[in-house]
Amino acid sequence: MSGHRLTLLLVALTALVGLAAADAEYNVVDYGARPDGGADSAAAFQAAWGAACNDTGRSGSRPVLRVPAGRFLLSRAYFKGPCRSAGVVVAIDGNGTVFAPPVVDSMAWIMFHHADGLAIRGGTLDGQGQEYWACKKDGRCTGQGPRTLDISQSKGVSVEQLTLLDSKNVHIAIFDSTGVTVEGVRIVAPANSPNTDGIHAQLSRHVRILNTTIGTGDDCVSLGPGTSDVLIRDIKCGPGHGISIGSLGGQAGEEGVRNVTVERAVLTGTTNGLRIKTWGMPNPGSVTGVSFSQVTMHRVANPILVDQDYCPRKVDCPGKSSGVQISDVSYEDIEGTSTTPVAVKFNCSATNPCSGIKLRNIRLTYRQKRPAQAKCRNAGGSASGEVRPASCF
Ligand SMILES: *[C@@H]1O[C@H](CO)[C@@H](O)[C@H](O)[C@H]1NC(C)=O
Ligand SMILES: *[C@@H]1O[C@H](CO)[C@@H](O)[C@H](O)[C@H]1NC(C)=O
Ligand SMILES: *[C@@H]1O[C@H](CO)[C@@H](O)[C@H](O)[C@H]1NC(C)=O
Ligand SMILES: *[C@@H]1O[C@H](CO)[C@@H](O)[C@H](O)[C@H]1NC(C)=O
Ligand SMILES: *[C@@H]1O[C@H](CO)[C@@H](O)[C@H](O)[C@H]1NC(C)=O
Repeated sequence: MSGHRLTLLLVALTALVGLAAADAEYNVVDYGARPDGGADSAAAFQAAWGAACNDTGRSGSRPVLRVPAGRFLLSRAYFKGPCRSAGVVVAIDGNGTVFAPPVVDSMAWIMFHHADGLAIRGGTLDGQGQEYWACKKDGRCTGQGPRTLDISQSKGVSVEQLTLLDSKNVHIAIFDSTGVTVEGVRIVAPANSPNTDGIHAQLSRHVRILNTTIGTGDDCVSLGPGTSDVLIRDIKCGPGHGISIGSLGGQAGEEGVRNVTVERAVLTGTTNGLRIKTWGMPNPGSVTGVSFSQVTMHRVANPILVDQDYCPRKVDCPGKSSGVQISDVSYEDIEGTSTTPVAVKFNCSATNPCSGIKLRNIRLTYRQKRPAQAKCRNAGGSASGEVRPASCF
């Protein structure tokens, strides 16, 4: 064989191998999606998902649902599995934005259900919540509104490098799922937008939220009943209501929250810092094995807060005490400023006092330099290292 022929053969072989190794791609534009923001692209997204989800894939490769650069109007998406592939990769171009119409008639705008092995990467999801918030504020809209991204009953999911803007309700909801990692994500909504939690997890295990920046009108992260084995690390939060466990105990039969680690967080201008919140009602429940460490607070109204008397509408709870037992919660290396004099408040249940609370190396001041206070009610624990304000146990 001549050298020339050999080279051609090698080129052909390389191309074949490359083709075989490449993941199959399903580009929404090929299914009729409009990158000019014009007509609704829902049917195209749905068809591309169906094809990708049906792709059996080759060993180790996952089909890719690609959203290229452009602005795509999506009225609603219900991406349902189980898929025949080992999982679908939803790759949105860095200059690709998927945006919602002003009204979405569903609990979720973009829903992934039974989507094991799903990976979502890049791009922007714009919930266009402005009209809906106004409608909520003047009482015309009484519902909660659709969550932007809902991941439900799925295993082994990752969400990376995604930007979420102006959701009508919660930005990312993780429900009844196992092994969900959110990493390098940015969530942005105005401080006065109602119920726009950044990330809410419920009934889920092994959830990791890493290197993520969240500024919204509600909790940056909230963990609901039945959530366990959670790692939240390298988080920037603000504006918003802080990092919250709860509300818990609002209903009978709730599962507890356990094994939660929050480390290396910076909270700026938030109403709460690290909060555990339960309804002032006798429904049983539990929070145990929580560790907060290396947290910096800038101008936070309530930096460390346990509130077991949550009852915003003052019905059903006044005069009752929470049935949720809070135990084994540690706070270590927490520093910064509080905008209110009480920087540390443990207001626990009279019938289920908090136990095993540990404070170590706490340096919180009221504004820049004034000493702050700590207040306890039905709370037991210990303090070590430098603890300012002095502990109230
Ligand atoms: C998936 O494949 C099945 C069987 O091959 C077919 O009946 C179904 O229509 C496909 N679904 C989609 C959404 O393409
Ligand atoms: C977006 O598009 C601009 C202009 O075409 C380009 O300079 C930039 O690199 C793109 N960014 C990404 C993340 O693709
Ligand atoms: C954190 O996320 C940002 C934004 O996505 C990214 O640019 C940066 O590289 C990430 N940092 C690390 C340490 O992963
Ligand atoms: C606690 O959760 C972390 C993070 O998911 C996990 O790595 C660890 O194994 C869990 N610990 C226990 C005792 O279950
Ligand atoms: C603490 O909780 C009790 C009810 O258990 C409530 O009456 C009181 O107002 C709360 N105190 C503060 C300072 O929040």
